[in-house]
Amino acid sequence: MSQRERWATRIGLILAAAGNAVGLGNFLRFPVQAAQNGGGAFMIPYFIAFLLLGIPLMWVEWAIGRYGGKYGHGHLPGMFDVVWRNPIAKYIGVLGLFVSSIIMIYYCYIESWNLGFSLFSLSKTYFGMTDFNSMTGFLKSYQGVEKGFFTSIWTAYFFLIITLLINFYVLLRGVSKGIELLAKIGMPLLILLAIILAIRVITLGTPDPVNFPERNVENGFAFIWNPNFSMLTDAKIWLAAAGQIFFTLSVGMGTLEAYASYLREKDDIALNGLSTASTNEFVEVILGGSIAIPVAFAFFGEVATLEIAKGGAFNLGFVSMPLIFQKLPFGEFFGFIWFFLLFIAGITSSVAMVQPLIAFLEEQFKISHKKATLYVFIGTFISAHLVVFFFQFGVLDEMDYWAGTFLLVLIGFIEVVIFAWIWGMDKGWNEIQKGADIKIPKFFYFVIKYITPLYISVILVYWGFTDAVPTLLMHNIPAEQIPYRWATRLFMLLFFALLCFLVHKAWKLNKPRYE
Ligand code: ALA
Repeated sequence: MSQRERWATRIGLILAAAGNAVGLGNFLRFPVQAAQNGGGAFMIPYFIAFLLLGIPLMWVEWAIGRYGGKYGHGHLPGMFDVVWRNPIAKYIGVLGLFVSSIIMIYYCYIESWNLGFSLFSLSKTYFGMTDFNSMTGFLKSYQGVEKGFFTSIWTAYFFLIITLLINFYVLLRGVSKGIELLAKIGMPLLILLAIILAIRVITLGTPDPVNFPERNVENGFAFIWNPNFSMLTDAKIWLAAAGQIFFTLSVGMGTLEAYASYLREKDDIALNGLSTASTNEFVEVILGGSIAIPVAFAFFGEVATLEIAKGGAFNLGFVSMPLIFQKLPFGEFFGFIWFFLLFIAGITSSVAMVQPLIAFLEEQFKISHKKATLYVFIGTFISAHLVVFFFQFGVLDEMDYWAGTFLLVLIGFIEVVIFAWIWGMDKGWNEIQKGADIKIPKFFYFVIKYITPLYISVILVYWGFTDAVPTLLMHNIPAEQIPYRWATRLFMLLFFALLCFLVHKAWKLNKPRYE
């Protein structure tokens, strides 16, 4: 077996794994979800999902990853093959390669907007667009949806290329010299920038005490955190909370497993997994929850903030925040900090999304790291055109729904079942405990074996009854988007088939021998 790359330091590993988890989801998706789904009451299903889905799956994924790495696999098809030893396992594992790659295709595009907007902040490019309409117009013209400040899509295209080049440069340097180094610099910087912004928000007071005394930052925090318990009876909130936990922790993507595969056999995973999850939650709840929504409330008041949250994450991040920066002294710097921090959060996650596919090509087809990285770069670049040029037709949303919302949960389910019921819970539990620096309470043995699979089954069954048919048949989709969305589905199916074919071919070429 060839010598695998390793993480150089433990702190580097934790920062890389935390960087994988901490992403755009923490600063954009989370506050929108919380504000839309009952405020403080959302935190109840959220923390329950964290405890019963997030943490257990985190350990399961690290365990599967480290074990797969022992056999030279940095990707889910190989890992499932090792733990299950059934010819079908590797094809189920294809889902892991699929989900991370599809998320990458649209995620890197959003990431690149942040790079663009961080420079537009410094250069005050959007200053002067002082109301929602004109700022929305600015964003839409940047996205190529409308003509406006930008007359073409090429600015966005340019930043996408730069973003992809940076991503692939990091990946080209490999696990310890690329991904780990990026995280060692990026994560402390990101946390520092987020703390600066959060302090700026907390000390904001009341921006316009004469006309709007109730629009202040205290009421902004109350808006996001005051619980509306009556909403807890709505199953949708529980679904939203579970979905947020999957997305924010990056579980069900195949990426944490890939990172864990570069551990040594006896390296701790119990404490490392927990540290990753806790860092993510600190950044999400404490920092992510303290910035965009409270500040929007302080400037625009309750009604508008609810509208902004309903409008979604892009509205919050790229319309409402730039409007606010224009009202703040040194707003161009705060704007830069906001978008640059989002860019760092994005890139430390996106490199993780590409790593499994690179590892797969390298390990199974015995091609050089350079070549594998180049192939994946070309594939990502070409595929990203769909998202860039057909943005207004819902291509991004379609990919995000299937890969970033639904399949994550399905993969989580498959993983925990393979782990606890096929591989065997006792074996799995020993694997988690091997080399562990903390003793995990036995409670989690039962959670992983019974509660997590059951919890996810309920989610999936509920989805099957309520969402499956309208979503599959696109009941609520504007008519002009429907052909593009079908085309996106076809693209995804073809990509999935291609990955299955590659797995088939790889195993034929080099049948792995495990004993
Ligand atoms: N976990 C990453 C995020 O939150 C994907 O953006």
